[in-house]
Amino acid sequence: MKKKKVISAHNTELDSRMGGGLPTGSLTLIEGGSGAGKSVLSQQIMWGALQDGFIVSAFSSENSVKSLVTQMKSIDLDIFDFLLMGKFKLYPMELSHLGEDAVETLISAMQQEGEMGRDMIVIDSFTSAIVHAKSQRTVLHFFEECKRLCSKGVTVLVTIHADGVNNDMMSPIRSMCDGHLNLKSAQDGQKLVKTLEVAKIRGAASVTGSIFGFDVEPGWGMRVIPISKARG
Ligand SMILES: Nc1ncnc2c1ncn2[C@@H]1O[C@H](COP(=O)(O)OP(=O)(O)OP(=O)(O)O)[C@@H](O)[C@H]1O
Ligand SMILES: [Mg+2]
Repeated sequence: MKKKKVISAHNTELDSRMGGGLPTGSLTLIEGGSGAGKSVLSQQIMWGALQDGFIVSAFSSENSVKSLVTQMKSIDLDIFDFLLMGKFKLYPMELSHLGEDAVETLISAMQQEGEMGRDMIVIDSFTSAIVHAKSQRTVLHFFEECKRLCSKGVTVLVTIHADGVNNDMMSPIRSMCDGHLNLKSAQDGQKLVKTLEVAKIRGAASVTGSIFGFDVEPGWGMRVIPISKARG
C-alpha cells in the first residue's frame, strides 16, 4: 500500500477542521489542561494513522496496554487487531519514577523505535518529564531529537499539560513544533464546552487560528459541535 503524505484522524469533521491532517514527518504539540482532550485527540489521530497502514508506537504515562485498549474501545477506536499484528506498540512509562533521567531515557527509546521503522511516535504525556528535567536545555534537547526523527520521516505527537509548566519553557517548545493544537474548556452561554484551537499546522495555513467546539461521546468519540463563540 502506498502511504499517504498526511496522517488523518479518520474523522471527517475533525480532519476538515484540521486542514486534512498532520503532514508526515512533522512534530505536533497537543497542549491543554486536565480533561481537555489531549489523550482522546492523540488516540483518535493514532487510530487514523493505523487505518492508513502506518506503524505506530506510543509512550504513555497514563495507560497500560489493557487500559488503553479499553479506553479507546469506549470511544469506538478498536486497536486490538493492530496490537496483534505488531502495527501498534504501547510502552507504559513511569516518568516520575525515572526522575531526572526521564528525558534521556525517552529519547533513546524513541530513537530505537525510529530505527525499527515506526511511522509515528506518540508521547502522552510529556508533562512529568518536563517537571523532573534537570534544566530547560534538557527539555529543548528532547524536542531537537524529535525533529531529528521527523527529518527521517517519523511523525511525532507530544502532549503537554501546560498548567504545570513555566511559560518561558512553553514558548520555545511551541515555536519548535510544526503543529500546535491547543485544547481548552470555554464557557458558551450556560455550558462549558471543550474547544480545539488550531494554533498552527505546517502546510495548512487555511485552518491556522480556527477554533471549534467538540464533545467526547461514549461509544462514538470526538464530535465537532457548533458553539456560538467558534470562529472556525
Ligand atoms: N469513553 C468516553 N466517554 C465519554 N467521555 C469520555 C470517554 N473517554 C474520555 N472521555 C472524556 O473526554 C474528555 C477528555 O479526556 P482526556 O483523557 O483526553 O483528557 P486529557 O486532556 O488527556 O486529560 P489529562 O491531563 O488528565 O490526561 C474528558 O472529559 C473525559 O471524561
Ligand atoms: Mg491525558
